[in-house]
Amino acid sequence: MENFHDLLVNRRSIRKYTDELLSPDEVKLILEAALMSPAGKRQNPWQFVVVEDKEVLEKLSYAKEHGSGPIKGAALAVVVICDPRVDTWVEDGSIASMLIQAQCADLGLGSCWIHIRNRYTANGQSSEDAVRSILDIPYEWQVLSIISIGHKNEERKPFDTDKLQWEKVHIGKW
Ligand SMILES: Cc1cc2nc3c(=O)[nH]c(=O)nc-3n(C[C@H](O)[C@H](O)[C@H](O)COP(=O)(O)O)c2cc1C
Repeated sequence: MENFHDLLVNRRSIRKYTDELLSPDEVKLILEAALMSPAGKRQNPWQFVVVEDKEVLEKLSYAKEHGSGPIKGAALAVVVICDPRVDTWVEDGSIASMLIQAQCADLGLGSCWIHIRNRYTANGQSSEDAVRSILDIPYEWQVLSIISIGHKNEERKPFDTDKLQWEKVHIGKW
């Protein structure tokens, strides 16, 4: 990607992936992005579980009734887990999730944020509990998101910067 603005214009959620695996260098860059995320008071309340095993990815793809399907076809998923005793954990985990996605975009990889917190499986179980039991995550940790990642197998249009919602921007006061 030539510059950061180009990256933002071209970044779209990608939910379909080829079978190609990520290289070790790509995985390292993605995890470095996660670990360099800014966090309130530098408390870094996040932990990341990296999943490449196809069977586990498939199990995770049922963690929600709707919207978790992309995990099944992903080459890899990064599960973002946080310590809720840190009062900025949602913000900190969200920033880490987004920087993982930005790094993926810079590498030309597709990714999608799969939301887990406050969501439910098809049979009414909390999505967090479903993910906790699949990955042996201790109960006291919260599962915020799963970022599904892979080589793109769909095209998405870039943003049209002439059609941004400028009406949401207030100058000086509301
Ligand atoms: C907090 C959050 C939760 C999301 N949850 C899901 C999800 O569970 N499943 C999914 O397919 N996409 C999910 N997305 C992706 C959004 O649907 C997507 O970002 C939005 O439609 C805008 O599309 P774009 O990313 O291509 O610009 C989520 C995105 C965010 C930021």
